[in-house]
Amino acid sequence: MRLALDPDSRLPLYAQISDHLRDSILTGNLRPGVRLPAVRTLAASLGVNRGTVESAYAKLMAEGLVASRQGSGFYVLAHAPGEPAAASRSGDWPAWQGRLRYGGYEAMSAYLPEASRQTDWIALDGGACDPRLFPMDEFRRMLGQVMRRDGSASVEYGEIAGYRPLRVTLAQVLASQGIQTGADSILITAGSQQALSLTAALLLVPGQGVVVERPTYAGALDVFRARGLAIHSVGVDEEGMDMEALEEVLVRHRPGLVYTIPNFHNPTGACLSGQRRRQLINLAGRFDVPILEDDYVGDIRYEGRAQPTLKSLDPDGRVIYVSTFSKMLIPGLRVGFVVADGPVYDHLVRSKRCHDLATCNLIQRALRDYVSVGRYSAHLQRSCTVYRRRRDAMLAALERHMPAGSSWVRPKGGLFVWTRLPDGIRASDLLVKACAEGVIFAPGGNFYLDPEKGEGCMRLNFASNSEDIIEEGIRRLGQAMGRR
Ligand SMILES: Cc1ncc(COP(=O)(O)O)c(C=O)c1O
Repeated sequence: MRLALDPDSRLPLYAQISDHLRDSILTGNLRPGVRLPAVRTLAASLGVNRGTVESAYAKLMAEGLVASRQGSGFYVLAHAPGEPAAASRSGDWPAWQGRLRYGGYEAMSAYLPEASRQTDWIALDGGACDPRLFPMDEFRRMLGQVMRRDGSASVEYGEIAGYRPLRVTLAQVLASQGIQTGADSILITAGSQQALSLTAALLLVPGQGVVVERPTYAGALDVFRARGLAIHSVGVDEEGMDMEALEEVLVRHRPGLVYTIPNFHNPTGACLSGQRRRQLINLAGRFDVPILEDDYVGDIRYEGRAQPTLKSLDPDGRVIYVSTFSKMLIPGLRVGFVVADGPVYDHLVRSKRCHDLATCNLIQRALRDYVSVGRYSAHLQRSCTVYRRRRDAMLAALERHMPAGSSWVRPKGGLFVWTRLPDGIRASDLLVKACAEGVIFAPGGNFYLDPEKGEGCMRLNFASNSEDIIEEGIRRLGQAMGRR
């Protein structure tokens, strides 16, 4: 145990020790039943005499927080939870803490924290795929193989840009999607969220403009808000971003970046049509503005023809392409990547070094093996089959349980059904009633700059639950909306 004791304090040493331990007990960091260090051991590690520690323990016993058991030491007792020590200081933080700047965002806070969720809730609000489909045994074997084969090299920092063989493999995969690139234009990041953040920080200074779709991914809004950017939004219909509206924004505000999710847009599921993709590239050329293409679930397609990526249509290196293994495989690996050209790439690599030196080397090596032996594409096919069935189950359940006046669009891929609520139902009110019925969804306001604009919509994730749970979840939702 390492406690910072102050020999010059007016508070005696034994009281300093008991204060530290009391804070740990009341905040739950020392849980009931835990044995405190033996008096002799703690006295030696703190450099105090045994009597000091004994007095500290006696004080805690007198407070009813600790008990001694004959011959086996001192134990933490069960007690009413107290206020965390930090909270008790909230009025009293040093002045410099009042100057902290984080751009001030609220969007993500609209998500209910995991700890506050009830276990029997049906969660239709998530942004990810089903972790139960992740090939746990195979991946564990791959990790073991990598450690045996590569030894200590597998646990070094590794290259800043990412494990080269993984980048080579990714370049081959991307070539099959029409993106001609090489390992030296690919940077591995800690999820695509980091790629968005690095790119925004590199290209834009606070106050500069960025264009987003309306609605859009809440995590991107967080990044742009935190950077202090002027965010301009452009509507989305079934064919993706509205190009006329975009042109108006480009003329009027001359933004420094256009951020778009062209495939199975989060949250609406829309795909940018082939014609609009070409228009977007032309507009970007005319206004000399870079495009940040977020292809977070491009490979999770159930029907229809894939459109070319914006990156593959881009003759000038104006598109910065971002993708991730989070949705196709699992988010906890925290592996995403960015494809960029020339100085943009070089600067992204430098800023990656400032942020975290490199993405986890061991995971990258195992992932490279997993992707290159064809297991990844087999997994993708299997997952798509499962998710397609779940999408169909959700669409059928919506037909059965949603009241008149609701509407939704059948997504051709991805993870979500974006649902419009009947007039007069507000998503934030509905969420409260839905929680009471045991189901939660992502309220539309999460995806708008002005949350009020999203009150008429909700996003439902169909990928993360089995078909019967989806049916039950949507039934509960229908019940919450006042209809069986
Ligand atoms: C559109 C979009 N982009 C990026 C991300 C970030 O994902 P990750 O950092 O796990 O790759 C998400 C996560 O939900 C997303 O929905």
